Amino acid sequence: MVNFSIYTPTRIHFGYDSFERIESAKEFGEKALIVIGKGSAKKFGYLGMLEKKLGEIGVEYEVLEGIPENPDEEIVEMGAEFAEMSKPDFFIALGGGSVIDAMKAINAVYSNGISVKECYGKPICRALPSIAIPTTSGTGSEVTRYSIVTDKKAGTKRVISDYKLCPSVAIVDPQFTLKLPKSVTISSGLDALSHCIEALIGYYSNPVIDAIALEGIRIGFENLPKVAENPDRESREKMMLCSLMGGIAINSVPTGLAHAMSYPLTVNFGIPHGMAVAIVLPHVLRLMNYEEKLRRMSEVLGGDAIKKLEELFEILGVPEKVEGLSKEQCEAFARDVMANKEKLRNNVRIPTFEEVREIYMTLRG
Ligand SMILES: [Fe+2]
Repeated sequence: MVNFSIYTPTRIHFGYDSFERIESAKEFGEKALIVIGKGSAKKFGYLGMLEKKLGEIGVEYEVLEGIPENPDEEIVEMGAEFAEMSKPDFFIALGGGSVIDAMKAINAVYSNGISVKECYGKPICRALPSIAIPTTSGTGSEVTRYSIVTDKKAGTKRVISDYKLCPSVAIVDPQFTLKLPKSVTISSGLDALSHCIEALIGYYSNPVIDAIALEGIRIGFENLPKVAENPDRESREKMMLCSLMGGIAINSVPTGLAHAMSYPLTVNFGIPHGMAVAIVLPHVLRLMNYEEKLRRMSEVLGGDAIKKLEELFEILGVPEKVEGLSKEQCEAFARDVMANKEKLRNNVRIPTFEEVREIYMTLRG
């Protein structure tokens, strides 16, 4: 067996009404900077709930709102300027993966006085404490060390990764996912499931994370169709668990080729992240030699793992083709993937440029 390390320092509160645990926020200081997105946190009253609680425990706050899907470098730099004026003791992210990722990147830039570009692929020296309250079941960002930032100029996404960016506390309360629209439910659920799968097959996989990933896969397969068609409190809770387990899994065993290949599809075609990963995932599983891991996944699913995955994707409406994908883009995207050395290292073997391009070519409509 290979040696391995596991480090997930986030204090996790899971379950309905775990939001009440926000009461302990005062331990991080007098003033919080709350980061939210463009819609649901305000529309559904979640921000109001948080403001009320902070008022009760005597924590001051300012709100940075308007974080878009797939936050880019400009947004992160603006957020860090906002933090510079606000001077918080800690951060609170209330939103989906994009909001939590943006909060981490803003924290890294602000706490170290550097630019976002200086954060890629380098250790982050300092970070303020943070609380993550996810409102989707997908990225697992509430427990991970990663922040994904869009580099618009390069047409892809970049990763900031450091354990100091793991939120200090994650409040994982399914009540915040009860009103999620179907499209977000599906794409974020696909992301959660793909995290479990990529952690299971990852180069750095280990027996502890395998167990978490396999259980996450089982839960995801059972509950994703339910939550997509007819969501109830239980299936929402289960998908949030799947997302949390995926987050814990990828924090130790990072995602690989499927995630790397998804980034250009999201940035150039606007395909939601989880959907983009799902489009390439069966191809990646066929390309690489994952026999042992696929056998274990098949055992859990009661049938051939790739076939089961494709059946699930069909039910969920994952497209097999990407309309408008040109030959030139297949070349360019494959070059981009091959340049992503960090992600390539996470695979059992490094694919060739031709293999990656071939997968993109099969996606042409
Ligand atoms: Fe992901």
